[in-house]
Amino acid sequence: MELSRFLHLSTNIIAPFTLRCAAELKISDCIDAYDRQAIPLKELARAIPIAPEKEPMLGQVMRLLVQQGVFAQSEEGYMLTPVSELMLSQGSDMGAFICFATEPDNCNTLSQMGNWFRSSGAGTLYQMKHEGKSPWETTKENKEFGNLFNEAMACHSRKLMKDVVASCPQLFDGLKSLVDVGGGTGTTVKVIAKTFPELRCTVFDLPHVISNALKSELFNAMGGNMFEKIPAANAIMLKQILHDWPDDDCIKILERCREAISPLEVGGKVIIVELTIDLETHDPMATETTLCFDIDMVAVFGSKERSRQEWHNVFQAAGFVNYKVHTVGIYSIYELYP
Ligand SMILES: C[S@@+](CC[C@H](N)C(=O)[O-])C[C@H]1O[C@@H](n2cnc3c(N)ncnc32)[C@H](O)[C@@H]1O
Repeated sequence: MELSRFLHLSTNIIAPFTLRCAAELKISDCIDAYDRQAIPLKELARAIPIAPEKEPMLGQVMRLLVQQGVFAQSEEGYMLTPVSELMLSQGSDMGAFICFATEPDNCNTLSQMGNWFRSSGAGTLYQMKHEGKSPWETTKENKEFGNLFNEAMACHSRKLMKDVVASCPQLFDGLKSLVDVGGGTGTTVKVIAKTFPELRCTVFDLPHVISNALKSELFNAMGGNMFEKIPAANAIMLKQILHDWPDDDCIKILERCREAISPLEVGGKVIIVELTIDLETHDPMATETTLCFDIDMVAVFGSKERSRQEWHNVFQAAGFVNYKVHTVGIYSIYELYP
């Protein structure tokens, strides 16, 4: 039993690379183009297309992905599931997320975790592998890496923010202006502005990120540093920002947010989208996902995912005493009032 568990944990690293392969070969789009009918292996191989002699290996890849629920299979062939639908180019197009997760430099960094623990010094594992640089310096210097990171964040936002505006529309009730701080290239504000056209939205990020922001009449884009000054608005959004930073920095960011938002009477609030560690949950997959993100945060940023109590402590320390929590899938939406 223990051997099979150990082997399962050790070989499971193959799974993300297989998912990446499906994303790169655009298998979801091929099934979509087959009128969403069950596509036989031969037809799939032709549609991708792959070299004919590799068709049996494609069958092996599909067998694993069917076992994992990424695709379904009938006697006629392979079909989409809600998971593979996330990779449709005309939908959430989440292929970039798995490509970033399996990006060779990211894998190489994580493989050095044991060495990092043995080495002395305060730097992160990422810094140990990148001459003391932060990931934000890398996204600035290495265009290809920066673009892949921004696209991975963007496709995550495309899916999650659609779910957030559908299940918590009241978050945006009565707001006239909103700034998405650390909003990347603008996907989050695009989803919000499309749903609430009367809301004036701005994406705010580091200048080199804003230079790549989507061009749209739906929202403004502004470059700057959230530790210095955040543009004024009724509401500030922080989606997956605070988990990149240790508590002291989170408190500074939230203090800048408090200076930027309107008073409570005119809808002043900070909307935070983050994971919350819950070891008591009945959803072990959600807990494991959150704990894996937690390790990624410590390795890359020297930060962490937080429990409900840890979030509470950070909010209180930044002077936010009143807040509400909503749940969307595995994400928590914290609504903080001035
Ligand atoms: C994890 S990403 C989240 C992106 C986006 N909110 C999302 O969820 O898709 C963190 C973002 O914070 C931005 N960022 C980092 N340091 C910043 C700073 N000092 N001021 C403004 N933005 C910053 C990064 O460029 C990056 O776009």
